[in-house]
Order: sequence, then C-alpha cells, then structure tokens
Amino acid sequence: MQVIILKNAEEIGDYVAGVILAGVDDGSLKVLGVATGSSPLPVYEALERRRTPELSSISAFALDEYVGLPYSHAESYHAVIDREVTKRLRLDPARVHVPDGASDDLPQACLDYEEAIRQAGGVDLQILGIGGSGHIGFNEPTSSFASRTRIKTLTPETRADNARFFDTPDQVPLHCMTQGLGTILAARRVVLVAQGRQKAAAVAAAVEGPLTAMCPGSALQLHPDATIVVDEQAAADLR
Ligand code: F6R
Repeated sequence: MQVIILKNAEEIGDYVAGVILAGVDDGSLKVLGVATGSSPLPVYEALERRRTPELSSISAFALDEYVGLPYSHAESYHAVIDREVTKRLRLDPARVHVPDGASDDLPQACLDYEEAIRQAGGVDLQILGIGGSGHIGFNEPTSSFASRTRIKTLTPETRADNARFFDTPDQVPLHCMTQGLGTILAARRVVLVAQGRQKAAAVAAAVEGPLTAMCPGSALQLHPDATIVVDEQAAADLR
C-alpha cells in the first residue's frame, strides 16, 4: 500500500485527477469507480478544471445508493453522481451506473449491478473515501471481506455523519445498497482520498491497524495496487 501525504484538498484533487487522466491517456482506464461524499469532490473539481473531452468515452460505477430515497431527491446518490460526476466530467450518462436502491426487487438489483460491472470488464480504478467508522463504500464494521453488492443497514454514526446533507437527521435513510468489500477489492487499482483530522483515526486503522472486519478500510491492505492520498491532518495518526 502506498501512502501519499499532500498539503491540502486541492493538491489531493490535482494529484488524483492526474492519475486518472494518465490512465485514460495510456488506455488502461476505461471504467472508473466513483464515490460520493465530500472527500472526492476536489478530484471531480480538478477534472472539471482540466476540461477533458476524452472522459466522455469512459464508463463509471458508483459505490452505493440509499434505499428508499427517490432519485428525484437531491441527496440520492443518483442525483449526487449526476450533479458532481456526470456533469462536471462530461461523462456520457448512458455509461454512468448507480446501484438501483429504488428497485422493487433489491436482491436482484444487487446481482444485476455486479453483472453490469463484470460486463463492462471490471473497474480499472476505484476512487474511495473513508467514513469515521472505517467504512468504505457503505461497508460498515463487521462487513465480510468477501462481500459483494448487497443491502446494508447504516450505523447510527454514519447516519449522524450524513445528516449534514439532509434537513433533519431522521431523514437519513436506514438502509443502503453498496458494493461489497470483495467487489471493491476486485478493482484493478484503488485510490482512497481523505482530508481532515476527523479522518486520522480511520486512516491509521485502515493503513496500519490489524486486518479486521471492524475496520473495513483495512481490507485495502490485501489489495496489490492501493494508494492512500491524504492531507497532513488525515495523516496525523500514522506512525
Ligand atoms: C460514498 C461512500 C462513503 C464515503 C464516506 C466518507 O459513496 O462510499 O464510504 O466515502 O462516508 O464520506 P465523506 O467523504 O463525505 O467524508
């Protein structure tokens, strides 16, 4: 696992945008895994600044979606991905995929999502953030390292963290559909970004802590090509 410590969110965004564009240029990146939340926004902003028309040929797969939130809701991940990723990067909307958390048949929708990733040839580079609980995607503590896309219950900590996006905390959905840790580990390359002191403990546990289902991010220690890109505050607890 490679750890890169940069000064601030803008440097992180520029660095990861450079990695993505280099992959698109040399043909190794055709399928990009995208995350929602605050952490990857500087990456999307940096890509938007560079105004790269060649991104229109890539496919994208989001990590997760709330269950029970209509896609018309501004905080559904369908809406967030459309606003922050598809439009900023000028991707082809037909090539952008988000788990179908509004499906009438959620177990089948999970299987269909795994199949869609497989049909696309797998994810070449997966962008990740990390939650205070150590979750990646919405794989909360105790998630199996072998898990695939499935329905999970959000922890009270994650619901409280995400309450900032909603009018009231009780509006945060209880459940989500998320790629599993096994799905994420199958990406050819993973790049996790984190900023701020509030992420330091989770980053240290993921990078240096024991491999444990209690810190889902520690699963990345098993990945042959994982890079962690953090600012100095998020790196503060690393030894
Ligand atoms: C979002 C996701 C989550 C977030 C994590 C950190 O698609 O999968 O794992 O990356 O909750 O969220 P932020 O970046 O908002 O602190």
